[in-house]
Amino acid sequence: MSSESESPLPPRIPNGEGCCSPARSPVVGNKVTVVLGAQWGDEGKGKVVDLLAQDADIVCRCQGGNNAGHTVVVDSVEYDFHLLPSGIINPKVIAFIGNGVVIHLPGLFEEAEKNMKKGQGLAGWDKRLSISDRAHIVFDFHQAADGIQEQQRQEQVGKNLGTTKKGIGPVYSSKAARSGLRMCDLVSDFNEFSHRFKVLANQYKSMYPSLEIDIDGELIKLKDYANRVKPMVKDGVYFIHEALHGPPKKILVEGANAALLDIDFGTYPFVTSSNCTVGGVCTGLGIPPQSIGQVYGVVKAYTTRVGIGAFPTEQCNETGEMLQTRGHEIGVTTGRKRRCGWLDLVLLRYAHMINGFTALALTKLDILDVCTEIKVGVSYKIDGKTIPHFPANQEVLNRAEVQYETLPGWNTGTSNVRTFEDLPENAKKYVRFIEVELGVPIKWIGVGKARESMIQLF
Ligand code: GDP
Ligand code: IMO
Ligand code: MG
Repeated sequence: MSSESESPLPPRIPNGEGCCSPARSPVVGNKVTVVLGAQWGDEGKGKVVDLLAQDADIVCRCQGGNNAGHTVVVDSVEYDFHLLPSGIINPKVIAFIGNGVVIHLPGLFEEAEKNMKKGQGLAGWDKRLSISDRAHIVFDFHQAADGIQEQQRQEQVGKNLGTTKKGIGPVYSSKAARSGLRMCDLVSDFNEFSHRFKVLANQYKSMYPSLEIDIDGELIKLKDYANRVKPMVKDGVYFIHEALHGPPKKILVEGANAALLDIDFGTYPFVTSSNCTVGGVCTGLGIPPQSIGQVYGVVKAYTTRVGIGAFPTEQCNETGEMLQTRGHEIGVTTGRKRRCGWLDLVLLRYAHMINGFTALALTKLDILDVCTEIKVGVSYKIDGKTIPHFPANQEVLNRAEVQYETLPGWNTGTSNVRTFEDLPENAKKYVRFIEVELGVPIKWIGVGKARESMIQLF
């Protein structure tokens, strides 16, 4: 028997005309390019995605919800995206929200309307957006429960998590508890949906007696959303399979949140509730691992964190204030001031171990333009000993003594620089130092908010 006849036959997929065609080989086809946050979020992912989306066909979100806030600046107009993939402002792009994303429908439509008023970029957005039928729905009571949980944490533990109160923890809890409702439920039999909605809402009422839910009023609104969203809801796995195996296409995946906020790998419990690292791309879209191509990590030239939790290189001093003010470090989703500190190579090495970055985008280098010297965290000591890993336990991480290297600053404006050669020598040294320490090439350097304020190195 020949080896060919021993290999299993490919599965057959009905082609809608009563026949079956073999599923295409999983090893050929288009690959997806992934953009991921490498720190605690707000690294400038929106801007990097916008740049890559200039010649993209499809831009996808795979996890998170409207806790994300991604800024894109085009022709001095500042767009902010929370659930919609940022690439949607390119009118040729098809946007896709995958099954791993959690969707608050009023939030989705408000976001689209708000950005529509800002400029031309969102024209025809509703015709260009597809949503996985397996994506879970965030209800208003999930958001209210998020607020109550935060209040309870404050009362019971003396501190909360500093969530965005967008219902992210509660909705992923409903998903894991198998009581959540998905887009496919909303657009199928509305009576069955209504029944399950009532059960879930009543569960929440019994868990949180102070929660008021107008079940009938909510269902009227949801029926309206069901009609509006129905044309966008598709079988996500088939949509992605076709995109991967149809004609050549550039497919981008826009990560939300970031590695250190990942539910498994982040600074637990001060994390979000989804996988913001590379595995979330496969599970959040239904993509086989071999279809993942480039994985770009977005790294801010210093570190910020919004919300609570350990932050070893935080600078609660003039340096931190300078970074906060110059970097306009204010949360896009919640308007909170971001905590600021020096670049931390220990956490970036850790993010690289998990994600296997093929290259990095180093953003906001221009914010360091006024520094005479720049510190970089290169290792952690615990109880006087240098450790080779990133600590899992928060109390241990809080005890980490960061070892810094000090590099000379450049004290020169870089915001008009467009080539690596034209950067000040010390800025070049800073970039090369990071590359060497991490062993990952830096492909882009951000020197301003606008689309054109990006230096491409290769
Ligand atoms: P995201 O969540 O990772 O998409 O990042 P955010 O949009 O929350 O925060 C990044 C902020 O930095 C936004 O206000 C961007 O406009 C801005 N930004 C991005 N890249 C650069 C850069 O290279 N220089 C400067 N000055 N601002 C930048
Ligand atoms: P982008 O995509 C920064 C943080 C919150 C909080 C914690 C849990 O813009 O980088 P959640 O509401 O998710 O339960 O909050 O996670 N957080 C972010 N911080 N950028 C984000 O997204 C974030 N998404 C969640 O501040 O500390
Ligand atoms: Mg953000």
